[in-house]
Amino acid sequence: MSSKAKLKVEKDFQVGEVDPRLYGSFIEHLGRAVYGGIYEPGHPSADEQGFRTDVLELVKGLQVPIVRYPGGNFVSGFNWEDSVGPVAERKKRLELAWRVIEPNTFGLNEFMTWCNKANTSAMMAVNLGTRGPNEARELVEYANHPSGTYLSDLRIQHGYREPHRIKTWCLGNEMDGPWQIGGKTATEYGRIALEAAKVMKWVDPTIELVACGSSSTDMPTYPEWEATVLDHTYEHVEYISLHRYYGNAKKDSASFLARSLDMDDFIKTVIATCDYIKAKKRSKKTINLSFDEWNVWYHSHEADKKLDPWQVAPPQLEDVYNHQDALVVGCMLISLLKRADRVKMACMAQLVNVIAPIMTENGGRAWKQTIYYPYMHASVFGRGTVLVPLATSPKYDCADFTDVPYVETVAVHNEEAGELTVFAVNRHLSEAMPFEIDLRSFGSATLIEHILMECDDVYAANTADQPNRVAPRRGAGTVDSDEASFTAQLPKASWNVLRFKV
Ligand code: AHR
Repeated sequence: MSSKAKLKVEKDFQVGEVDPRLYGSFIEHLGRAVYGGIYEPGHPSADEQGFRTDVLELVKGLQVPIVRYPGGNFVSGFNWEDSVGPVAERKKRLELAWRVIEPNTFGLNEFMTWCNKANTSAMMAVNLGTRGPNEARELVEYANHPSGTYLSDLRIQHGYREPHRIKTWCLGNEMDGPWQIGGKTATEYGRIALEAAKVMKWVDPTIELVACGSSSTDMPTYPEWEATVLDHTYEHVEYISLHRYYGNAKKDSASFLARSLDMDDFIKTVIATCDYIKAKKRSKKTINLSFDEWNVWYHSHEADKKLDPWQVAPPQLEDVYNHQDALVVGCMLISLLKRADRVKMACMAQLVNVIAPIMTENGGRAWKQTIYYPYMHASVFGRGTVLVPLATSPKYDCADFTDVPYVETVAVHNEEAGELTVFAVNRHLSEAMPFEIDLRSFGSATLIEHILMECDDVYAANTADQPNRVAPRRGAGTVDSDEASFTAQLPKASWNVLRFKV
């Protein structure tokens, strides 16, 4: 077998357009995502509305197009009415999903204001755990109806004359999970999702809806869940959700780095299930995918078990990410891009403090975790058209997978900017890999830059005191064999971004 990896792309051989919402994120009322994360009145960097401007700057650096809110498991016990109106009158509640106290001093309207400041938009979830179609349609009316009804006028009375015009709505969260407040069978959920979808769209026909798919490929009901839910909701929703987190509890890096192969299978299976129901219903409509929770999550599991319940904003799910976590995130981004024809939205879960690319101290510093970088590179440079990756690579077998390509790669062509960006992860833990890139269908190309993330210690992480321990740098670039063929060295265990002018 060849000891080099190769990527050939043909300009006209396209997977599809990248929907910018592929680079979405997620803010849940959980841990310090909101309180001490995006919102901390009294923090030295807080603006007049209490938003941390140091965090806002880091969020803007990611160019996040859409942020899912307010949960997550949280949403399944949430009364949206508790989170609007005069702050002094808002109710503190026991929050059962995460066993904390929710003060409700930050709510729907504050979130929409924050979205404007962060140059992003909202993906709003409704509660289909303890509540149903009526509360969901009332929320759409409060948020999106211009004026002249009790609920729309209430929003105006609360200081928001203009409707929020929230376009994308999730019909509940992880309703297949026994951990979910008000969890349901696929049939129970399919029915309530259909009825909620109908009335929400009767209030505002311009909205788009996401039905809950499986919480992970490990769920016993996967993928029958998707088939049953879509059987009920097919003509009333636009997307089905996928959620997936990976961990490395056994410290088996070779298997951990290969986890995105599971993500590839997950996406393939859900597309097949959507299309099966399409055929069954003789429908002309295609359901697309919203991968609205994905990330690495495992570092904080033990610490979370030791937290006392009923605190306000305790440090929950505060994974400190290392170098190899960033490589897994890079592979997951490549998996999403490879199916950009059908995966139209995706949300890295989450954005600040809670399994997040951005960390903060209460009252103190904010910094970038390792996973910030591949997410930022993909979001900033991965806009345009994904080209079919005609890729070959030496492969390896590990405990959990066989035939794992050492090099995972994809290319995105931004025709408007005249740029092509190749993203590549070298999963090899001890060897660099020569990587040939054939861009001959473009005529000629020149390398703009090779951005590289490598680290001698795959367990190295960034902290408040060492915020740049793991960070990208300029790579060695490429050796050009002609005007459109290039060879780069991908260092062992590295994330690479090769940008070309084409
Ligand atoms: O993102 C953390 C949690 O993971 C979410 O609340 C839930 O939807 C998922 O299980």
